[in-house]
Amino acid sequence: MIEKVKILLNEVEIFHPNSKVEVESFRLKYLGKKGEMNELFKILKDIPSQNKKEFGQKINLLKKNIQLKIDLYKDSFIALKSAENIDTSRPIFLDSIGSKHPISMIKDQIIDIFNRIGFTISEGPEIEDDWHNFSALNLPIEHPARDMQDTFFIQTDPDILLRTHTSSVQVRHMENNTPPIRTLSPGRVYRNEAISARAHCIFHQVEGLFIDENVSFADLKQCLLYFAKEMFGEKTKIRLRPSYFPFTEPSAEVDVSCNICNSNGCNVCKNTGYLEILGCGMVDPNVLENCGINSKKYAGYAFGMGIERIAMLKYGVKDLRLFYENDQRFLQQFNQLS
Ligand code: PHE
Repeated sequence: MIEKVKILLNEVEIFHPNSKVEVESFRLKYLGKKGEMNELFKILKDIPSQNKKEFGQKINLLKKNIQLKIDLYKDSFIALKSAENIDTSRPIFLDSIGSKHPISMIKDQIIDIFNRIGFTISEGPEIEDDWHNFSALNLPIEHPARDMQDTFFIQTDPDILLRTHTSSVQVRHMENNTPPIRTLSPGRVYRNEAISARAHCIFHQVEGLFIDENVSFADLKQCLLYFAKEMFGEKTKIRLRPSYFPFTEPSAEVDVSCNICNSNGCNVCKNTGYLEILGCGMVDPNVLENCGINSKKYAGYAFGMGIERIAMLKYGVKDLRLFYENDQRFLQQFNQLS
């Protein structure tokens, strides 16, 4: 008899059901009224007393194992049952996934466009010294053009400030590299301005710098035309207006044709047909010399643009503050674009 119990123990051990029906017939086979267990308990009565203890222990173990198996598969069967109703080929819920911030998206696009014509990325500190943010850029102390960029100073030390543009990174790059230089400096910048729909005290810039022998204003213009077409579409035109920056000479501001009204005039371009996107110019020889570059041998161009401004034009955003409020309703509109 003990042999039969051993066989049953083995049977229970190797039992692995595939459905609820199999678990139920297993239960009936062993624990049902006419099941194996009841039969064994009946037999127990007739077992000679010297073997009773061992036999009793074995059938109790068998019963325990049967119950364990049933409990195990009862639960996993419920899981299997609900899994049967799940369509594993269905795409995941996209709206529970975050996406790139529109400012990051535009920044990446700008970087990608300039990467394709050989610009590499350079980065620098947001807390700067006077030299890299101003003096090296042809803006000595007391220069009135310093007021063009209202500056946050750190504590009371007038030498330490929050950078007002990423031109400071270009200075660092020129100091540490030799021409030819082709670099792009994206980053956060700070200006002490009242926050409004069109201005913020923190914003983002991408500035570019190209230095080599025989670089001309025509190269700059061609580079910017390429950028404008890549960013705003093949039909985009650019317009350069003379301007002033202390670090470039000559300097210009660049407008792109308004793609909202096809340059026919609308309230976004204020009926001018054009929208301003960046400042640029030929690097002033003084700046090259300040950074240890021979201005007799080398020339260069530089340009700088606000990422928020490009994002506003590209996505038709009318209020700059929306970029910093982290309102999900605003940000989710960019999900499909990232
Ligand atoms: N640094 C300028 C600014 O922040 C932009 C600029 C860069 C202009 C390079 C000309 C050349 O306003």
